[in-house]
Amino acid sequence: MRKKIVAGNWKMNLSAKEALALVNELKVKIDHQPDTKNPKNSNGLPEVLLFPPYVYLSRVLEVFKNYEGVSVGVQNIHQEGKGAFTGEISPLMVRSLGGTHTLIGHSERRIHFNEDDELLAKKVALAMKNGLIPVYCCGEMLPDREAGKHFQLVAEQLKKGVFWMNEDEVKNIIIAYEPVWAIGTGQTASPEQAQEMHAYIRQLISDHYSNKIADEMTILYGGSCNAKNAAELFAKEDVDGGLIGGASLKADDFFRIIQSF
Ligand code: PGA
Repeated sequence: MRKKIVAGNWKMNLSAKEALALVNELKVKIDHQPDTKNPKNSNGLPEVLLFPPYVYLSRVLEVFKNYEGVSVGVQNIHQEGKGAFTGEISPLMVRSLGGTHTLIGHSERRIHFNEDDELLAKKVALAMKNGLIPVYCCGEMLPDREAGKHFQLVAEQLKKGVFWMNEDEVKNIIIAYEPVWAIGTGQTASPEQAQEMHAYIRQLISDHYSNKIADEMTILYGGSCNAKNAAELFAKEDVDGGLIGGASLKADDFFRIIQSF
């Protein structure tokens, strides 16, 4: 059975005080999940991943210390292991604090920081070398979809960024399909559009590796996923959860999404 995951990408939002209030509120909600014998590891919830701005990493990790089912990571890493790269952070730093995951290739990194698939492949490799699990983001822009090129484009992103790995490596990563036109716009992909692309991605994985690997890999949907539409999206066969931006900034909304399976 592949993992169900709900991930929160806070992007560049929240003060330290707000961030701590959010995680503490979230923790209380998870602890008080009804029908729970042991709220810390068998509460029937999907795995939760949090991606705060990295300056808050230690503090968020502290709140969820020894807490099964909630993992914390960063939104980006540098592609080099260490050195003279002022302002950057390395996967080793994240791992040494206890962070376990990193987003790689979010469309905002691709668009605003010109990150291309070759660079992202380096980041993926370095993350894994340092024991971080990459959440590799892919997805098309609106003109690509309108031109009917969305499948081809996503295939390209995966081929360059991910499919160079061997079977043992690839099965440990998480893929997030995030159509750029749906991110932060309130215009969610329909459950059918999400399912169609997720099934396509799973088929690509199957063609490149095997059915077994494709079956084991978690593919998240992201793009204006919220407490109202999450259940419909997560009900689709190949949608294994969500990567949530705006709606992950409020404990109530995010927790309702977590409960949407
Ligand atoms: P959104 O962002 O939920 O605010 O659309 C999703 C994302 O960018 O990961």
